[in-house]
Amino acid sequence: MQSCTWVPKGTAFAVLFVCGCTSDQSALHPASREAADVAVLFWAMAAGTIVIWLIVMGAAIYAVVGRRRPRSERFADRFTLVGGVAFPVVVLAALLLFGLTLLPDWHEDDAPDLRIHVTAEQYWWRIVYELPDGTRVETANEVHLPVDATAEFRIASRDVIHSFWIPALGGKMDAIPGRTNTLRLTPMRTGVYRGVCAEFCGPSHAFMAFDVRIHGADGFARWIEMQRASAAVSPGARDFIASGCGACHTVRGVVTGGVIGPDLTHVATRATIGAGTLPNTEANLRAWLASPQATKPAAVMPPYGTLPAEDLDALVDFLMELR
Ligand code: CUA
Repeated sequence: MQSCTWVPKGTAFAVLFVCGCTSDQSALHPASREAADVAVLFWAMAAGTIVIWLIVMGAAIYAVVGRRRPRSERFADRFTLVGGVAFPVVVLAALLLFGLTLLPDWHEDDAPDLRIHVTAEQYWWRIVYELPDGTRVETANEVHLPVDATAEFRIASRDVIHSFWIPALGGKMDAIPGRTNTLRLTPMRTGVYRGVCAEFCGPSHAFMAFDVRIHGADGFARWIEMQRASAAVSPGARDFIASGCGACHTVRGVVTGGVIGPDLTHVATRATIGAGTLPNTEANLRAWLASPQATKPAAVMPPYGTLPAEDLDALVDFLMELR
């Protein structure tokens, strides 16, 4: 994420425009094969649009300031037919054919290199990796992928319609209750990108983002092994269980069965809390536990601000150790 802190008077528009172009969340800085196709289509359409705009503006200017002389009815008919019918048909047909060549060309039978089940919830992302040996590893609000491998996302929703969108990696895919949509992406570059929810889904729709980290093959294998492991049990686990957190959250190795909220087994390794809302620091975590709704309206998690300060500190310490 990148933000702009310097906004001089009169150039707010230009700054806004430039800020919208940071490469971690830009469809114009493609980092996957699918996003590269979308970017090619965009640039082709932009170039065509400029050419057509120049032709139309040229004709308009000629009509206003050009030398006035009478034209035959035949010329007028032809001009209307060529400019108003033939030209748009040719341009739109070419665009359609070009667009068709860019459609994904995979079949249901082609096995992807990796399958990830994504469930959108108000307002966070449940991410479940389906490993080749059949085991499933759950995490939340962070997607890690190996470079040069095709990842298949099976996208669903538990409540309302959301939309899964990683602009640098590809187009949007709706997350719809009661059905599963499939999206395949093949990252070409390592790096950290930003994904968002692209369908208004409630008061905290804008606080439903996630980091996407593209690793080399070895780095991804290390990450998935780390995620597969249970949490190291620390004395703070007692406070976590006593405060009732396990009713909604699972910390593998400590308490299982909580499925309402995000799996917290390795929460300390995540860059953000509240689904891309706050950097994952001790101070932010403490504020979040005390009142999630203060930063994220309508968040489902109950506030824990009434806990004694030392209990809150113990919870923060425990969570910060979940690496
Ligand atoms: Cu979920 Cu917008």
